Amino acid sequence: MKQNLFLPSGYHLEFWAAGNGFFRINIDGKTVWQVPSFAPQPEFFKYHHREACEVNIVTNAPEAVLWAYGYQPQTVNETGITVFEFSEEGILRRTGAEIEDWLRSDPDRPALHFSPIRHWMNDPVGLCMIGERWHLFYQFHPGGSDWGPMHWGHATSRDLCTWLHMPVFLHPEQNLWRLGATGGAFSGNAFRDRDGSLMFSYTERLPAYDLFKGYREIQNIARPDRRTIKVESIVTVLEQRPAGVEHDFRDPKVWWDDAANAYRMILGASIDGDPAVLLFGSGDLLEWQYLGPLYRAPVNFREEGARAVECPDFFRLEDKWVLVMGFVGHIEPTTRRHNLLYALIGEFTNDRFVPDTPELQLLDFGTDYYAMQSFEAGERQIAFAWLFNWEYRKPEGSAYSGELSLPRVLSLSEDKKKLCMLPAIEVEENYVAIPVARDQRGDYRLPSAPIEIRLSGPLQGSKLVATQGGELAFEVSVADGILSVRLAQDDGSIDYVAQLCDAEDLCLFHDRGIVEIFADGGAICGTRRGYRNINPDHLGISASASVQVLERQPK
Ligand code: FRU
Repeated sequence: MKQNLFLPSGYHLEFWAAGNGFFRINIDGKTVWQVPSFAPQPEFFKYHHREACEVNIVTNAPEAVLWAYGYQPQTVNETGITVFEFSEEGILRRTGAEIEDWLRSDPDRPALHFSPIRHWMNDPVGLCMIGERWHLFYQFHPGGSDWGPMHWGHATSRDLCTWLHMPVFLHPEQNLWRLGATGGAFSGNAFRDRDGSLMFSYTERLPAYDLFKGYREIQNIARPDRRTIKVESIVTVLEQRPAGVEHDFRDPKVWWDDAANAYRMILGASIDGDPAVLLFGSGDLLEWQYLGPLYRAPVNFREEGARAVECPDFFRLEDKWVLVMGFVGHIEPTTRRHNLLYALIGEFTNDRFVPDTPELQLLDFGTDYYAMQSFEAGERQIAFAWLFNWEYRKPEGSAYSGELSLPRVLSLSEDKKKLCMLPAIEVEENYVAIPVARDQRGDYRLPSAPIEIRLSGPLQGSKLVATQGGELAFEVSVADGILSVRLAQDDGSIDYVAQLCDAEDLCLFHDRGIVEIFADGGAICGTRRGYRNINPDHLGISASASVQVLERQPK
């Protein structure tokens, strides 16, 4: 394949490639940059173009290029990246709205939920707002649509709903593919240092040859460049694990703590086999002291398979502190659900977290709301989570894997006993609402589009059944105060249920296999991701509550 392209001065081309072949950039018949031969494993390459001119790109292995994009640092914050798709026919380039149209042309890709253009995504990380822009980073594997060496992907938005795709922000320390290892730049957060500069914390898992044990995880602090395009400098600040803490030692959340007049960091880990959250303190971000466990899970979690805490989140909300955790490996014994997140509400004084009650709140009764990360923005605490659990996969051959939840705003229930989550107002503002039906029971046709269903009034006895050509997409029902949800893939071995309290309001989004349910003012949430690609064309409703069905489309 040969193609002439005009590249402006200062242009960056970044790509990952694996296979057999070469790649050359020629100017006026002379090779100015090349990869003489790709390796069998993926490898990262970057070309920096100096003077505006036409180049000739030549490769005998376009299929070896796994993921490629170009950008100009001066303008990428406005334009986003240009995606380069290599094929025998040449290079197809797409930017901004062209990328959006291209993604929307995939009938199986959710329209209201963020997904990567290509390849594997997991946890949302480093969430923050800079000026007028929301920044979303995410665990990303640019080498394929399965989990692998971890990078930080990046996207920005002005409205929390439509996203501009940005260059990969953070890379693993070593070429893990070539080592035959996994690991890399794991999850972490964004925070402001004492002087107000934006910084990131994250875990680097050093090259690992076993997914479940014996690896080493260290904590890094990173400073971004002035345009927030790439990490500019990285310092390793914590390597030693406290006694009793095994290999799981990750997912820092760092913040400047006014009460302590110092930095605080929490990490997900285990202590003598019990999942735990560890608290560290520092005056300068470089030297960290272990201040003790912030939380240690009761012994039943270990007995039920939990190995460690992942992605702990800890934040002030109204006049309380909230701790959110995932227990990796845990299976809830009565319903057989796994991949659940739990929350505790309490007081945090003198570096001690005292929950108001030892009882953990199940944060989402589906099993596809994991690795939630929240961040403070103005008066709001906003959260995204990864809609996935390891039990189910996208069908073979999918261009990407992984979606994020709708942006949710966190609050406390009136009695301050529950953490509540509801879609951010931006969802209402940015997704057009076209009425499909109102106050109607019985059966009717659905458009081939994302939908929102709202019920208000007594929910007891309600049932919503969405089907395509008679095949089940999802069923949601309320009986004896229990809300339950069922998808086509369910064989009945797991119960997706929640006990309602008020049972007076319910709102449900369906977006190409994603079901997000909010009930009891957001105190009960349930998220499921089905991969059967069933797009309901028919909805049966029996309910005494008042009903509203809306078609939802990005503007
Ligand atoms: C959670 C998690 C984190 C880790 C990251 C690695 O999904 O396992 O604990 O940092 O994903 O991709």
